[in-house]
Amino acid sequence: KPALPCMVRNFIAMLSHFPTPIIFAHRGASAQAPENTLAAFELAAKLGAPAIEFDVKLSSDRQVIIIHDQTLERTTNGSGAVTKQPLAALRELDAGSWKSAEYRGEKIPLLNDVLEAVGKKLLINIELTNYATPFDGLVREVAALVSKHALQKRIIFSSFNFNNLLAAQRLLPGVPCGQLILEGRSGWFQRLTARFMQLEAEHPYTDDVDAVLVHRAHRQGRRVHVWTVNDPADMRRLRACGVDGIFSDDPVLAQEYFK
Ligand code: G3P
Ligand code: MG
Repeated sequence: KPALPCMVRNFIAMLSHFPTPIIFAHRGASAQAPENTLAAFELAAKLGAPAIEFDVKLSSDRQVIIIHDQTLERTTNGSGAVTKQPLAALRELDAGSWKSAEYRGEKIPLLNDVLEAVGKKLLINIELTNYATPFDGLVREVAALVSKHALQKRIIFSSFNFNNLLAAQRLLPGVPCGQLILEGRSGWFQRLTARFMQLEAEHPYTDDVDAVLVHRAHRQGRRVHVWTVNDPADMRRLRACGVDGIFSDDPVLAQEYFK
């Protein structure tokens, strides 16, 4: 059997501390708690998830915060574009009540605080989501925080924007990257750029994954982490295809069916 090219071996080694299969609690345990809050991340750990995923952006005063949407309406009692507000205003908002009264007063978290709170107990997928402001220097700020907490070995970066991954590789060369790929035909551009990039993982959409895709990625020395998988039938099917991980809102369900 020919030896694996050195480059491929290195990429596999970069993610060897991530177990297979791995369950990322998507936006934390977001089926049970308000997504992308400290409560959801802490709960993911309590429910036995080995890893979490969350979405980072910059406030107008360049603080790295965690929130999925580009606007505040759906998950907080605020309104307007997230990146137009300073941290102090964002921290005033209630990011928990929309989910349930039990979580009233839960705040939009700072990346710094989340790394501090759970960085040593969970593996973390940081999705770089400055899709509306791609030249804002988000990756530089995130990389500085990962270095400050010395969490290079517990992180994987992902993004739909390959430029973010190139920036991450330049700033933190030892940290693995996964290219997120949009659903179906919309993902053509990410599939194209992924062919030419040095990536440790691909993150395709559930319905696009079959055994052929997984086999091809593995031949390239890449892991496959699939988003977002909440249906037990999909979990079983993907496991049989040999995928290395899934993002799921419900880590309890995922631990039952994806193994
Ligand atoms: O990283 C997987 C998944 O989070 C990508 O989509 O929109 O939920 O951030 P989205
Ligand atoms: Mg995400």
